Amino acid sequence: MVEESNFLVSAPGKIIISGEHSVVYGKPALLAAVDRRLFVKIRGIEKGIKIIADEPEDLAQYAFQKTKEALNKKIKGGLKIKISSQIPVARGMGSSAALAVAMVGALFRYFKEPWDKNLINRIAYQIEKKQHGNPSGCDNSIACFGGFLWFQKRGESFKIRPLKIDFRLPEFVLLDSGRAKETTGEMVALVNEKFKVQKAETGRILDSLGRVTEKTASCFKKANFALLPVLIRENERLLEELGVVGKKAGKIIRKIEKLGGAAKICGAGGIKQGSGVILCYHQEAKVILDFAKKQKLTYFPVKLGVQGVRDEKN
Ligand code: MEV
Repeated sequence: MVEESNFLVSAPGKIIISGEHSVVYGKPALLAAVDRRLFVKIRGIEKGIKIIADEPEDLAQYAFQKTKEALNKKIKGGLKIKISSQIPVARGMGSSAALAVAMVGALFRYFKEPWDKNLINRIAYQIEKKQHGNPSGCDNSIACFGGFLWFQKRGESFKIRPLKIDFRLPEFVLLDSGRAKETTGEMVALVNEKFKVQKAETGRILDSLGRVTEKTASCFKKANFALLPVLIRENERLLEELGVVGKKAGKIIRKIEKLGGAAKICGAGGIKQGSGVILCYHQEAKVILDFAKKQKLTYFPVKLGVQGVRDEKN
């Protein structure tokens, strides 16, 4: 008999406002969920497991298996799982974390598990580890809890603090510097290699990134963004020193700075080709939009601080 079931769960993409890479080394990160979502739809079928995805299908398969194991459950009959996404892939926008979280969430609904976001997040983190090797857990946490998060890795656990933003934020624009050829795992490994070879120098960069993140978070907490452009520029310089920004992204960012704006990559980055999306800030957002149009760069208008994982049917 076919199980009477039809579930739809979604999770958002993200940007890292400050703290990518240094967060892997226990420094804080400031993140925001963005209004681009990934959807996992589950339907009971007679038999077999069919997964339909644009995303890397093996990750979807793995996420499915891992959740089933974590919950110690068996499927009655079969399942058709369809994944559709609005989150650009390999752009530092957390598409794989959104997949992990939404898959876990959808299976929680299917197995009628209590909607425990901490547990969903922990299982999603195990899935992320397969994809990225040594992730901090910040990507799955923002996809799970949404909003704005202050995140810090503490060994195998996380310190997560939601930031209450009940005021109008400055307008940010995301520009696409292109798909990163490297995976997040490869970029994290690259930094780790640098850390092993140039310990003191890399340690200094990571410490400075930690301080920039604290100051940036303070702008958001106090609703005072006077220092934000300076902090974004400093942040970008440190990421360049760390060696995670490609030439193409670097050039775009220098041009934005010349126009009086500030910009930084906002994810793992990439050096062989694109470095993913660039977070841009200018007192007049129109300057960035005009620049993007003139340079024929794709830009994403985004809303920050949206809801985390959610059941689309409830
Ligand atoms: C990737 O979105 C962010 C990194 O800091 C890796 C991680 O935190 O797992 C580069």
